[in-house]
Amino acid sequence: MKGLLLAGGYGTRLRPLTFTGNKHTLPIANKPMILYGLEALCRAGVKEVGVVVGPLREGVVELIGDGSKFGVEVTYIEQPEPKGLAHAVLVSERFLGNEPFVMHLGDNLLKEGVKPFIDLFENGGFDCVVGAAKVREPSRYGIIDFDSSGRVKKLVEKPKEYISDWALIGTYVFNEKIFDAVKQLKPSWRGELEITEAIQHLLDHGCRVHVRFVQGWWKDTGRPEDLLEANQLILHDIETRIEGVVEGDATVSGSVVIGRNSIVKSGSTIRGPAVIGES
Ligand code: DAU
Repeated sequence: MKGLLLAGGYGTRLRPLTFTGNKHTLPIANKPMILYGLEALCRAGVKEVGVVVGPLREGVVELIGDGSKFGVEVTYIEQPEPKGLAHAVLVSERFLGNEPFVMHLGDNLLKEGVKPFIDLFENGGFDCVVGAAKVREPSRYGIIDFDSSGRVKKLVEKPKEYISDWALIGTYVFNEKIFDAVKQLKPSWRGELEITEAIQHLLDHGCRVHVRFVQGWWKDTGRPEDLLEANQLILHDIETRIEGVVEGDATVSGSVVIGRNSIVKSGSTIRGPAVIGES
């Protein structure tokens, strides 16, 4: 299965941090946020990843390169303007071909990774598997409306009126039927081709869409406060691992990861949770 990792857009909600660089390179704990998604794809066994990049592509390309240091083959796919998640699928059609693929938003972090979604897709005979998580501010997300027997009734992007608390998270597994769906779309009220509408199209045309409820935490890092929360979530989960050097007179306490080639110099104090260097 191929992977599609989205790193386009301008990251306007994270300005001024994103005036000069791509938001996906902003750090969470000790690494750029996009690497969490890339590593999740690698851990799920994905070997070929298309990275969708927009006008601010530089930082991302420098970071990921050809993918070899992560054990994947990376192809960059240009999306000149951020015209929506469904548009990102559309511009990736040639790379994806007729194979099923897992799409992951580069600004989303998911404790359990993407493998459970791929496994469900492969074992369940679905046309599409998406993830859902309960949220406090439904108007910020794509929202799922379920009927009384728990079947998906409707998907609405950033509803102005309350529908439900169940948001679509940024991990989606599709087969080739999604291309017909995205080709039917018209820009939404916010001028984008919405992936929620494409999934709605699948539902309306009798395709098998399955919703998996996320286990563990999920974080969309769209706003500055989300970056801080994501940082906390990552640090909360770390277990002490010292792969670098802690010099004799240094003090390290709490959950702390010291990566390879890092040196904690004599006289320093590190109070966890903290992660330093490579991990
Ligand atoms: O995080 C989950 C939410 O992500 C879903 O609930 C929504 O249904 C979905 O539309 C999306 O909403 P956002 O408003 O958070 O999307 P955002 O514009 O922040 O873009 C999400 C990621 O996709 C981000 O990493 C940038 C990238 N992107 C975005 C657009 C619009 C692209 O690569 N190309 C694009 O055209």
